[in-house]
Amino acid sequence: MAVALQYAMNPWTSPRSAESITLGFDSASVCSSSQALFSCRLPSAHGRARLRASRSSDYKTSLGNLAKKGCLRPCAVVASAAASGLEVSKQACLGDITKVDFPILDQEVNGSRLVYLDNAATSQKPIAVLTALKEYYEGYNANVHRGIHALSAKATEEYEMARAKVAKFINATTSREVVFTRNATEAINLVACTWGHSNLRQGDEILLSVAEHHSNLVPWQMVAQRTGAVLKFVDLTKDEVVDAEELKSSLSNKTKLVCVHHVSNTLGSINPVKDIVERAHKYGAKVLVDACQSVPHMVVDVQDLGSDFLVFSSHKMCGPTGVGVLHGKTELLNNMPPFMGGGEMISDVFLEYSTYAKPPSRFEAGTPAIGEAIGLGAAIDYLSGIGMQRIHEYEMELSRYLYDSLSEIPSLRIYGPSYRESARAALCAFNLEAIHPTDLSTFLDQQHGIAVRSGHHCTQPLHRRLGINASARASLYFYNTKEEVDILVSGIKDTISFFSPFN
Ligand SMILES: Cc1ncc(COP(=O)(O)O)c(C=O)c1O
Repeated sequence: MAVALQYAMNPWTSPRSAESITLGFDSASVCSSSQALFSCRLPSAHGRARLRASRSSDYKTSLGNLAKKGCLRPCAVVASAAASGLEVSKQACLGDITKVDFPILDQEVNGSRLVYLDNAATSQKPIAVLTALKEYYEGYNANVHRGIHALSAKATEEYEMARAKVAKFINATTSREVVFTRNATEAINLVACTWGHSNLRQGDEILLSVAEHHSNLVPWQMVAQRTGAVLKFVDLTKDEVVDAEELKSSLSNKTKLVCVHHVSNTLGSINPVKDIVERAHKYGAKVLVDACQSVPHMVVDVQDLGSDFLVFSSHKMCGPTGVGVLHGKTELLNNMPPFMGGGEMISDVFLEYSTYAKPPSRFEAGTPAIGEAIGLGAAIDYLSGIGMQRIHEYEMELSRYLYDSLSEIPSLRIYGPSYRESARAALCAFNLEAIHPTDLSTFLDQQHGIAVRSGHHCTQPLHRRLGINASARASLYFYNTKEEVDILVSGIKDTISFFSPFN
């Protein structure tokens, strides 16, 4: 009888080379553990696979052998025939199931297994994305929109398909609303230099929060200096979240633009963007949403939010660096002048002047990051395969666990709201009483192989507002686990013991 079992590789104990273990599966695709490893890592499987055996006894023996060697962790028996006699130790979590898709995570750093907790800075890339990049550069590297030869046609098709995937992922009304940029920072600068310069006048107000990332602050300072527009800032509540009520009451007919983050990269707080958009629109103000820390972690629907502009970066959502996204409403993009001049963005060029292409081409001057955009498309396929709602729910569980575990360390202060007061993302910026965050992150890296970030996380004004210069930040993604949070906590405790004689 054919039986099937969902399994997850156990990344903590998998042998690097398992060629010598032979499985008794009769399936053509899985006949040795090395192939099982490979099969498990197939992009479409997302770290899960269905193994088939002709007899349940073959199946049991083979799984038992693998389990003994520690490279297999049964998580959910699908066919009851396989259940008898199999030890199903625990339901594998999403982190266990997906970690095998990320080869970089399977390494030691400074003698310890890598625990990567710097995902708000950038995420790791699954095999599916690495494969998409390799396939592009090995198989059909060519410029887009410029040639009719086969490679160029294929590159163009894949590049535009990636745009369509982005549009569907954020529920844009059309893929023409999706502009590829270098990153989120460039997307914001694009809006500032085009929409900002042509719409803002002396005395107009741009409303921001004190917790914006520098990328959603400095471009507006520059525009304000050039146009005479005024920047107005909304403070935090006592729970250290952006004061949404203050934000709404600061709106007036002078407000031309509201620039807010969806999820704070430092406080972990989640802004009620839909509400803010609704209120801003009553005053005729446009809203730009910095969705760098939300699009990778939850379902984001631009039509539901009603945002006018929304930006994010591929590299924080399992995609390659070098590509970012600006979503803009059609009517706004159509009325915006170009950002940069050059090839691709024109309709007709004469010696003295040019006419411009329609969006999104109007905003994509020069050769874009073709392979990287295609890689972003592969990342979206990968994330969608898991399901954004599932990712979000799992990360909410991690978020609570991280917050509670860190809260138990007496000398540790977490910034931002408690998850009990409001939903918060799976990241915590924090400080220890007597240890500088840079010392902490250096110790965690060198003694425990734990990657966390220290510094101001590009939110210097927010740090000043909190009365600090710097903080440490642990930021998680769906491939992290509670076990890794435990390792972080024990690493922090070890750091405290190490430094206590000096304090
Ligand atoms: C909230 C937020 N906004 C903007 C950015 C800028 O992203 P990028 O550097 O990819 O342009 C980041 C990156 O850390 C971020 O966390």
